[in-house]
Parts: sequence; C-alpha cells; structure tokens
Amino acid sequence: ISLKSYNTFGIDVSAKHFASVNTINELQNILKLKGYPNKFILGGGSNMLLTKNIESLVLHINLKGIKTVSKTDSTVSVEANAGENWHKFVLWCIDNNYGGVENLSLIPGNVGTAPIQNIGAYGVELKDVFQSCEVLDIHSGEIRTFTKEDCQFDYRNSVFKNDLKGQYIILSVTFKLSTQHHNIKTEYGAIKNELERNNITKPTIKDVSNAVIAIRSSKLPDPSKIGNSGSFFKNPIISKKQFDLLKQNFPNIPNYNVSNKLVKVPAGWLIEHAGFKGKTFDNYGVHKNQALVLVNYGNAKGTDILNLSKLIQKTIKRIFNINLEAEVNIF
Ligand code: EPU
Repeated sequence: ISLKSYNTFGIDVSAKHFASVNTINELQNILKLKGYPNKFILGGGSNMLLTKNIESLVLHINLKGIKTVSKTDSTVSVEANAGENWHKFVLWCIDNNYGGVENLSLIPGNVGTAPIQNIGAYGVELKDVFQSCEVLDIHSGEIRTFTKEDCQFDYRNSVFKNDLKGQYIILSVTFKLSTQHHNIKTEYGAIKNELERNNITKPTIKDVSNAVIAIRSSKLPDPSKIGNSGSFFKNPIISKKQFDLLKQNFPNIPNYNVSNKLVKVPAGWLIEHAGFKGKTFDNYGVHKNQALVLVNYGNAKGTDILNLSKLIQKTIKRIFNINLEAEVNIF
C-alpha cells in the first residue's frame, strides 16, 4: 500500500506488508508471525523522510484512549495511548483544565512518538511533563514500564533514538499535569507578544495554547496542505570559543546559552543567511517563513529532499564551519 497519507512529508513510497494495530493483543500476535523478521514502526509519521519503498512489515500503531489515572490536590496523572494524535491530546488536557502541555499545542504526530525525540516548543519539552511510559519489547513481546530516568531525555533526543533504537514499541505515555497552573510558561518572546497583542495579562492555559496555535500557524506550514516534517535539522550546539569567532563575522547571529562553554545557534538563521529561505526547486524547497522547514509542494521524491538537505549541510559547513544534524529520521 502507499504510505503517502501516513507520513506528513507526503512522500509516495509503498509498504510491501502493512498492518494497522488497534490493540496490544493484536500487536503481540502480529509480532509472533513468522516470515517478517524486520519491522518498521509507524506512528504519526511526522518526523520522518522516506526515500524508498519499505520491504519490512510496517506496523501502524493505532492504539487509542486517554484516561485520568490518579489525582492529588494540585496534580493529575493522565495516561494516553500511543496512537492518539498529539494535538488532540493537548486539547483534551485543556478541556479538562490539566496544565503542562499547552506550549506543545499543534505539534504534529502521535503521543507514542513524542518521547522518542522529546518533542519541544516555546520553552517546554515533553520531559517536563513526562511521568512514565509503557513499552513492548519487539523481540520478546514483554511489556515494561520506563521511568523518566530510563528514557534519558535530552534536546530532541532519548534512549529510543540511541541505545534502544528499534527495540521497543511505545504503547502508552503517562503524564504528570497540573490542576492549579502556578507554572504557566510565557517567557518565550513570541508568546509574550501574542498575549500582549490580545491584551491578555493573566493568561490561562487555554490562552497560552491559543497563542502557540496562532504563532505556529503563522510561520509553520500545515502538513495537511504542504508536506513537511517540522524542523528538518536540530539547532546546533557549538563551543563558546567558536561562537565568539563567528560573532566577529556575523554580529547579529542569535544564540542561547546552553552552559558556560556551549552555545546553541538557531539553524533557521544559518540557513536563511546562507540564502536558502523560500528557495524552490521543482516541487520541493525551503519554507518561506521558516528556513528550518523543508517542504514538499507536490509529488517530490524523498531523495530530492534528502539531496537538498545535504546541499544545505555542505553550505552551512562551508560558510559557518558548523555541522547541521538532521532532526527527522531518514529511511
Ligand atoms: N530564524 C531566522 N530565520 C528563519 C527561522 C528562524 O532567522 O528562517 C531565527 C529567528 O528569528 C529566531 C531564531 O532563529 O531568532 C529561532 O527561531 P524560532 O523561534 O522560529 O525557533 P527555531 O529555533 O527555529 C525551535 C524548534 C521548533 C519549535 C521552536 C519554538 C528545533 C530544531 N526546533 O525552532 O520545533 O517549535 O523552536 O520553540 O529545536 C520541531 O522540532 O519540529 C519544531 C518545529
């Protein structure tokens, strides 16, 4: 079957074998089938670039359900199954007045893939609200619980992208959320401006969610209209020493301090200043409002987009002597 509607980049490659699973039992039974040694686990398909047909068995994780599992005076634990759409989950939390994920509004993808790259935006990362997740061992079929420590979260990174890559399927995620909201995060410049523009001085979690939705919609392409996978690259982290040298040539280069020795530089700025912003090649290119996002305007091939990403990496290396690392998973 074609995977075009299963990846937000909208790349038309096919899967030789495909199964959409709705229950853990189904999943365990399929994993026991002989003759399919390799599995390709598919969630929301929002953080991948497919460059060729998939020969292994594609397992589309379609486990649904969200429930409140426990409450204290000021917090609540909520368990969401892996196949729930992330933004739908965020809206469910806001409707129930559960705070903590409002800054992560409108991020494409599913709940079950959110921990893999520790999704983040506007001052909040998944790890800030993560309590635990249930995972299934692909080889033994055994179910285990991973704590936050087990997941080794880092900037757009976790154990699921490293030591345990391809070994577990995330079944559900349990979040620790607030019911009192003493910790609403509005420091991020764009959020502040959006709230001010609407004359909101005491924002609720719903106000923050609406602000994030407005900001994202204004600069990030809607994957249902223009194929994309969000930020294609990670923001590079370089030494303070290298940054000070760069600043001599590029005095306006934005930056965030990571530690007293490391500085994070926005890849979007580097790509824009290398002249790529808004560049279009046939039916793919670099988004006009956010240079960190590569886009598929029509029937682009995964390899075209991959080659464009390599050209960008080479150019950034040449101009700034910085290695850009892809944030999306390339297959
Ligand atoms: N910038 C430019 N030109 C551009 C894009 C950005 O000069 O074309 C500059 C901006 O002016 C600003 C800085 O770069 O000074 C940062 O831009 P922005 O706030 O848009 O965020 P970002 O660093 O490009 C990161 C995340 C996004 C997340 C936003 C908001 C990564 C790889 N990306 O982008 O996450 O939504 O911050 O928190 O960390 C994603 O991971 O898919 C994603 C969209």
